[in-house]
Amino acid sequence: MEVKLKNITKRFPGRGRKEERETVAVKDLSFDVPDGTLVGLLGPSGCGKTTTLNLICGLENPTDGRIFFGEEDVTDLPPELRGVGMVFQNYALYPHLTVLQNILFPLENLKGKNRLSKKEMNDRAMEAARLVQIEGLLERKPKELSGGQQQRVAIARALVKMPRVLLLDEPLSNLDARLRLQTREEICKIQKKTGITTLFVTHDQEEAMSISDRIVVMRDGVLMQEGKPQQVYDDPVNLFVAKFLGTPPINVFEAEVKDEVLYFSEQPVLEVKNVKDQPVWAGVRPEGFVPGKDGPVICELDRVEVLGRDISVVCRHAACQAENVRAIINSEHELESGLGKVSFSLKPEKVFLFGRGDEERIPFGASCVSDSGN
Ligand SMILES: Nc1ncnc2c1ncn2[C@@H]1O[C@H](COP(=O)(O)OP(=O)(O)OP(=O)(O)O)[C@@H](O)[C@H]1O
Ligand SMILES: [Mg+2]
Repeated sequence: MEVKLKNITKRFPGRGRKEERETVAVKDLSFDVPDGTLVGLLGPSGCGKTTTLNLICGLENPTDGRIFFGEEDVTDLPPELRGVGMVFQNYALYPHLTVLQNILFPLENLKGKNRLSKKEMNDRAMEAARLVQIEGLLERKPKELSGGQQQRVAIARALVKMPRVLLLDEPLSNLDARLRLQTREEICKIQKKTGITTLFVTHDQEEAMSISDRIVVMRDGVLMQEGKPQQVYDDPVNLFVAKFLGTPPINVFEAEVKDEVLYFSEQPVLEVKNVKDQPVWAGVRPEGFVPGKDGPVICELDRVEVLGRDISVVCRHAACQAENVRAIINSEHELESGLGKVSFSLKPEKVFLFGRGDEERIPFGASCVSDSGN
């Protein structure tokens, strides 16, 4: 079931006092969750992710705009008729009920013609439990489960009604690193197996990139960019998106374009065709540095970390906005570091320019100024 948001705005009124103004949690938001896909909704705290899910499931009504499931306009449909399963940010299991009773709960509340027989309810609950692999825990109470198991019960409870759409609001936030990884792979598997159209909220970009078919990046209630994870990573529309995606993060340099050449601290580093003279932010992905003794980007070496196949070079450059420049290079490369310096040339496809004022992307055509290392 495809989900379509068309020009959705959600305002929350202020609380009377003058200094508390209304909040526009979501601004003119339009995007699609294509049928059968898993879309990651991504952005910093307070950017409107939970509000967006609440609007889709019907717990909130938009101030403006329409929501469609396939061709059906569901904007005025009450939540219980939308066929949405939701795992809330602070998912709460009923503590006095067993795991099985927790999963059965949404089915027991079905009314009228939707009502199921005891056997049908049990079969459905067992199927959901099997899907998330908690069949062995059905008689336990939530407090007798680990965080990860509780999380899976919450997912089973959302799946048991066979929803048309599944909404997951930071479903992994309470788990430790290992379990997070494991559970996110499970969610991905369950989604592929059931084919349920799924919107998955997280503020962890790595998590979103790793399991999503597509990602939607939001900031202050506004959609910044939408697309396949790799495509958004390789082609960010602005500095915010470039900085938001990637570990280690993109290296941002205070730079200048003069006569179609990019300069870091007066040093020419890359030819950038069709860019007019101006100060810019230059973002370089960690994998965009090629070590070589004639490279134009000369850094002070701090340390080298071996990551197995790759090595991480931690160094300093006066124009870099962070304390350190982080370069990830293949360990087959010779790293020459005479007198504590390392030199790099830049891979043009890993360099992005942004306006100093509006921070929007400035496209350029490139060729290397000093060609070394290749
Ligand atoms: N019921 C409400 N009344 C007033 N303001 C609200 C309400 N719900 C959310 N907001 C505001 O709307 C904005 C978006 O909130 P939302 O919960 O959607 O953010 P979020 O992206 O889910 O953040 P987080 O990552 O912290 O969960 C915030 O500024 C929040 O304070
Ligand atoms: Mg939230």
